[in-house]
Amino acid sequence: MARVLVSARVPGDAVARLRAAGHEVTSRDVDSPMPREELLAAVAGVDALVAMLVDRVDAELLDAAGPGLRVVANVAVGYDNVDLSACRERGVVVTNTPGVLTDATADLAMALVLMTTRSLGAAERRVRTGEPWRWSLTGHLGTGLRGKTLGIVGPGAIGIATARRALAFGMEVVLTGRSEPDPAVVEALGARVVDLAELLACADVVALHCPLTPATHHLVGAEQLRAMKRTAHLVNTSRGPVVDEAALVAALEAGEVAGAGLDVFEDEPRVHPGLLARDDVVLLPHVGSATVETRTAMADLAVANVVAALGGDPAVTPVGG
Ligand code: DGY
Repeated sequence: MARVLVSARVPGDAVARLRAAGHEVTSRDVDSPMPREELLAAVAGVDALVAMLVDRVDAELLDAAGPGLRVVANVAVGYDNVDLSACRERGVVVTNTPGVLTDATADLAMALVLMTTRSLGAAERRVRTGEPWRWSLTGHLGTGLRGKTLGIVGPGAIGIATARRALAFGMEVVLTGRSEPDPAVVEALGARVVDLAELLACADVVALHCPLTPATHHLVGAEQLRAMKRTAHLVNTSRGPVVDEAALVAALEAGEVAGAGLDVFEDEPRVHPGLLARDDVVLLPHVGSATVETRTAMADLAVANVVAALGGDPAVTPVGG
């Protein structure tokens, strides 16, 4: 019988299925992430860890787990919280949850495109706070999407799914990323592949879908924000540190960009006070994949990875080689 730690509450019957597979499971039945000290203590002696994106899986944690740890199943498609080389050195398999969260995250990205271009956060706040309002022909004017250009930075599965949605709103799409997207997909989208400079110069909405890596840390900083149209909006559903938040606040203050829709932040759950103070940003608490169906599928996939790896089979969705 292997020992498995599930570091936060997961939806559905994922924990029950781990138990049904014959494993001894310790799970935290609380929504909030496990405090670091608690996690370091709880992980001692486990064979598998079902980790959340807020759990830092680094050498300290791996050493706290000990040599029995065989698999870390991250319940997220992103795995920037996991030190892959430290895992590799210790022979620990790392898995993620690609595919199952593509639609939910693309839906949320599109929601942020609409919310920020139509200033819906500010409009909703106005009604909710009881500030007097009356219909007027010139009040609460946003900008439309038809004929506008969506710039996708990171044309992986979620970026492409967002682009598909944008087409239904009459948008044109330009794409940029580290690797060339499939030409057939680009053609089906009627999209153009451009470099980042061209994308920033022509996009009316810049949507970030790239993973967080050393190369994408602060990919959007002061220079890139200055290169955007003054009427453009930035949407980030990837990882907070892809954007230099202080630079974004400065760019918004200087009118260099028109607004932003952010689902992720540099130092979650802290949000830059300069962002909190502005009406031209929409701020969400990292809910890109937060549907019952998606989070259940993510937990199920993580569990399938653990069961496979502990059973001596190849993991279903391994990362990092
Ligand atoms: C991911 O899977 O990386 C998402 O950020 C989870 O919501």
